[in-house]
Amino acid sequence: MTKPLIIGVSGASGLIYAVNALKYLLAADYTIELVASRASYMVWQAEENIRMPAEPDQQELFWREKAGVKTGILNCHRWGDVGDNIASGSFRTLGMVIIPCSMSTVGKIAAGLSSDLLERAADVQIKEGKPLVVVPRETPFSLIHLRNLTALAEAGVKIVPAIPAWYHHPKTIEDLVDFVVARALDTLDIDCIPLERWKSS
Ligand SMILES: Cc1cc2nc3c(=O)[nH]c(=O)nc-3n(C[C@H](O)[C@H](O)[C@H](O)COP(=O)(O)O)c2cc1C
Repeated sequence: MTKPLIIGVSGASGLIYAVNALKYLLAADYTIELVASRASYMVWQAEENIRMPAEPDQQELFWREKAGVKTGILNCHRWGDVGDNIASGSFRTLGMVIIPCSMSTVGKIAAGLSSDLLERAADVQIKEGKPLVVVPRETPFSLIHLRNLTALAEAGVKIVPAIPAWYHHPKTIEDLVDFVVARALDTLDIDCIPLERWKSS
């Protein structure tokens, strides 16, 4: 059986990135362990005027409804439960993608802080030498943000900023979002998104 992939959703703008990542991963029958930070609840409220449920079972239904997918295994975790399974190095994973990733989460991971389950799971991926991918969303980046991102890159973390490309002729917002999600998953060699890739003429 394939090992699970952890998806972290932090309180950065662009929850659609997380929704689309789930849509494709679950449709491709991946097992997902999802942890959404406390601040991400506020972003759901601001971006979609929606209250995300905190109970894991209800949250699973919530994400499934948003992503429009019934397949795959989705386990949601409470943001404060730092004793949950994904907080342990003995929990085997394919790695973790934090999408979208706030500058606060970048800074805390870079400093080795694990003040919630998302940060602890990320810290564990690094200490266990497992793949960790962050999709930072902020603009402009301050020198502090750049230093923290550099510290993560030095620790082997893949930085895949939420920056779309235009060479694949995007026509919709979904096309722009999917490009970023696909490039993030590419770093884990997961290819489950129908994406027109670059071809030289
Ligand atoms: C609507 C909204 C949008 C936000 N967008 C961003 C963002 O794009 N990038 C960012 O770094 N922080 C953003 N923030 C601020 C973070 O949510 C805040 O720093 C929070 O403490 C992050 O906590 P977390 O990293 O634990 O999720 C946003 C906050 C709100 C309410």
